[in-house]
Amino acid sequence: MADRILVVDDEANLRKVLAAMLRREGYEVDTAEDGAEALQMLDEERYAAVLTDLRMPQVDGMAVLRRVMARTPETPVVLLTAHGTVETAVEAMKLGAFDFVNKPFDQQELSRIISKAVRTSALAELESTTLARGDDQGRFGLIGTSASMMRVYEIIERVASTPSTVLVTGESGTGKELVARALHEQSGRASRPFIRVNCAAIPEGLIESELFGYEKGAFTGAVASKPGRFELADGGTLFLDEIGEVSTEMQVKLLRAVQESEFERVGGVTTRRVEVRLVAATNRDLARDVADGKFREDLYYRLNVVPIALPPLRERPADVPALANHMLVKYTQRLGRRGVERFSEDALLALQAYPWPGNIRELENVIERTLLFCDGPEIGVTDLPAEFTGRLSGAGGLPPITPFVSPNGVTALKDVVRWTTQAVERDLIERALGETAGNVTRAARRLEISRKSLQIKMKELGLREPER
Ligand SMILES: Nc1ncnc2c1ncn2[C@@H]1O[C@H](COP(=O)(O)OP(=O)(O)OP(=O)(O)O)[C@@H](O)[C@H]1O
Ligand SMILES: [Mg+2]
Repeated sequence: MADRILVVDDEANLRKVLAAMLRREGYEVDTAEDGAEALQMLDEERYAAVLTDLRMPQVDGMAVLRRVMARTPETPVVLLTAHGTVETAVEAMKLGAFDFVNKPFDQQELSRIISKAVRTSALAELESTTLARGDDQGRFGLIGTSASMMRVYEIIERVASTPSTVLVTGESGTGKELVARALHEQSGRASRPFIRVNCAAIPEGLIESELFGYEKGAFTGAVASKPGRFELADGGTLFLDEIGEVSTEMQVKLLRAVQESEFERVGGVTTRRVEVRLVAATNRDLARDVADGKFREDLYYRLNVVPIALPPLRERPADVPALANHMLVKYTQRLGRRGVERFSEDALLALQAYPWPGNIRELENVIERTLLFCDGPEIGVTDLPAEFTGRLSGAGGLPPITPFVSPNGVTALKDVVRWTTQAVERDLIERALGETAGNVTRAARRLEISRKSLQIKMKELGLREPER
């Protein structure tokens, strides 16, 4: 059966030309004259690829792209763009577009891109039906099937069973710890210990004895000898989390332990040897720290044998629906909220459009908060926190960003934080009151604060106690 392609363009002539050209190449072609029609057709039919004009009245190519990414992210979308819309094209690529072609287009280039897109989608289909290893949501306990996550899985698979040191980097909340655990679980060391050291949480003076242990009498309070984390991890994996926070002095000691696998306990003379797999993680740009003289170059190279860079969530919006559903299942169970079953399409689109500065940890948080206040079987946009409903910047809601600028023209971050917090609080309180028909006691219970604190908060925020 021939592959079916959807062509979306508001110009009748171009639509005809494109359809004729693709039919000549042996594809089946459906056409839509605007985004709205395209969305409808996408509901009814699965396409091997979608070719859409970017600029169209009302529902544009970006909307078509978003819909495809939300519903069938494996369907490749190719955009036709006019010159001078490079930024939008880049934006589209980030959202998961397969490629874009500038108008006026070169027939050969377009036909090459379409055939590549169709092959990719055939491959994706094959993978999801016959070759699926792990489940179709992700692998190794990690959710996500975006190209960047697939690369991460591939590295995990290749290096898990080797003894090579891995450096996991990525913004806060991107899953660095999960990757470290996956490396351990997939290795031959899985039955041996996985020991995590949070280098940022251990006070400077204690880190050496934590890592290497100490002998009795090494310092006041050392009433008995104690092995350190290196020893505890022997035969297993040692995860040095937040490695970028280690002092330069400690870096020297670590270097030796990493390089020679040997060390002495604090106050000890015997040199000890261990066999551990090291995984380090940081949300800092270590290469930059090296250039700035804050991190030892030799240690950096020792750690960075196999780099795994985790992409921020905003660069892989295609993964948002699967992650959100995963968190939905997790928290409906944990919070005992059985009635909530799914997200509306609009809610998923709103979640995908959000920039997620706190990445997956923030997403998890948002889903948990949403579940607390949601009743229906379906979570709609209005059930999402204030950041997603547009109320923060819009009508009837809260002051837009500009009032954050103080009289001397400076935007004080603390004011922004205060405004934003208040905005979120106000929204949550209004919702709780709405849902309890203005019953302050019951609203307070929902918000998990005392009735008294709720009243104080309402006063601060200028919210009047509703008349009942
Ligand atoms: N790909 C993923 N699939 C499912 N859950 C994920 C994924 N990545 C992260 N999480 C979840 O998000 C939360 C944060 O992940 P994790 O602690 O691994 O992030 P991190 O990069 O170590 O963050 P930080 O730098 O703040 O320590 C955890 O609850 C984790 O289970
Ligand atoms: Mg972490």
